[in-house]
Amino acid sequence: MTGGGHVILVGMMGSGKSAVGPILAERLGRPFLDSDEQVESRTGRTVREIFEADGEAAYRRLESAALREAVEGPEPVVVAAAGGTVLDPANRELMRSGGTVVWLYADPAILAGRVTPGDHRPLLGDDPAGNLRRLHEERLPLYREVADHVVDIGDRPADEVAEQVLGLLA
Ligand code: S3P
Repeated sequence: MTGGGHVILVGMMGSGKSAVGPILAERLGRPFLDSDEQVESRTGRTVREIFEADGEAAYRRLESAALREAVEGPEPVVVAAAGGTVLDPANRELMRSGGTVVWLYADPAILAGRVTPGDHRPLLGDDPAGNLRRLHEERLPLYREVADHVVDIGDRPADEVAEQVLGLLA
């Protein structure tokens, strides 16, 4: 049984989940949880270290556990569900039953201009634009399946996107 009533942000790397989420949480007066941060704080390792040492499948198991814990908590929260959480059908079901899912959408070319490869994005590799385009195409139907709302972030700042999301939630 999930706590329900959560706001769950989904979207690709660079779509602004970790920037928009805290603004939403503050305005809604509830905690903000970022699935990547949960994994890294729980393991004491970066996403990249987990990918490189244990492989993507091991990371996905940790990611799913973090999402489940967030969504099954009794207190309504804002969750930034990292870009690949939609890959697992069990995660998609958790999101759909756990609250309102908002997809922060952007064209991959926009995403490419917004991402900084960094420690938590090993999948960007040495061709961020090309990998973002491929992953975007692969995942479009999955984001579409879980989303209650879609917000095209364009090149807008997080506070403007957050205002639009709040309007949709009202
Ligand atoms: C991933 C997205 C990343 C991180 C990991 C895998 C993905 O999180 O979980 O690099 O598969 O799209 P963000 O969506 O916060 O960048």
